[in-house]
Amino acid sequence: MSNFNQESVLSVHHWTDTLFSFKTTRSPTFRFRNGEFTMIGLKVGEKPLLRAYSVASANYEDTLEFFSIKVPDGPLTSRLQHLKEGDEIIVSRKATGTLVIDNLEDGRNLYLIGTGTGLAPFLSVIKDPETYDRFEKVVLLHGCRRVKELAYGEMITEKLPNDELIGELVREQLIYYPTVTRDPFRNRGRITDLITTGKLFDDIGLPALDAAHDRVMICGSPALVADTRTLLNGRGFVEGNHGEPAQFVVEKAFAER
Ligand code: A2P
Repeated sequence: MSNFNQESVLSVHHWTDTLFSFKTTRSPTFRFRNGEFTMIGLKVGEKPLLRAYSVASANYEDTLEFFSIKVPDGPLTSRLQHLKEGDEIIVSRKATGTLVIDNLEDGRNLYLIGTGTGLAPFLSVIKDPETYDRFEKVVLLHGCRRVKELAYGEMITEKLPNDELIGELVREQLIYYPTVTRDPFRNRGRITDLITTGKLFDDIGLPALDAAHDRVMICGSPALVADTRTLLNGRGFVEGNHGEPAQFVVEKAFAER
């Protein structure tokens, strides 16, 4: 039996010249935990051309969603960006990844730190009722260079709070904090700087990060991941993994496409 399902594209959304997302059908046999990634791609000739993508939809939804950059001359994304409704893609039958709430110890508040397309796994995590059951407040930080790159902002602030299943949880527990570094905007600066200076906590009205109470998930460029890990280690946070839940977990956003 093949390790892949064939799915068809239901819709495509282009956010900017370099960012797009798309929804596909979901084979009922494909199971995943919110926050995980899977391999997706296209058949090029006889060979599948595959890359890792976080699933941006929640595991109870009957469609799949993926959020992607367009890499100029990228073997996969240079093709994937031309997807249109009705096209076929292949999706692995397996999903994996560290950004799942089971890899975190219980705590008070959960911080989700994503830059660029590193937002994707958290779109799934913030739709999971269990996330709100485990944590009092869920703070979603999305850092981008430009305002136009703050994809999904409207979905998070307009659609989710009115969602039938999780609207009430979102209204009471989710704090969305988008920030940009290279445009004027209400929130400015790197997420790491906003944490270090304490500006983030002043803005959202929560106490500064504390390993005793707070839990963190990180997804972004290798530099973002390395700097945030150093910052958290410096505050006594221990990194968790499968089978070893701790105070924060990390995944590189997948960039070579
Ligand atoms: P900056 O504009 O100052 O580089 P990228 O597109 O390079 O992945 O960046 C996405 C966002 O993450 C940008 O706002 C960028 O800020 C920020 N960023 C990049 N590297 C780091 C890092 N090492 N620590 C914190 N923020 C970072």
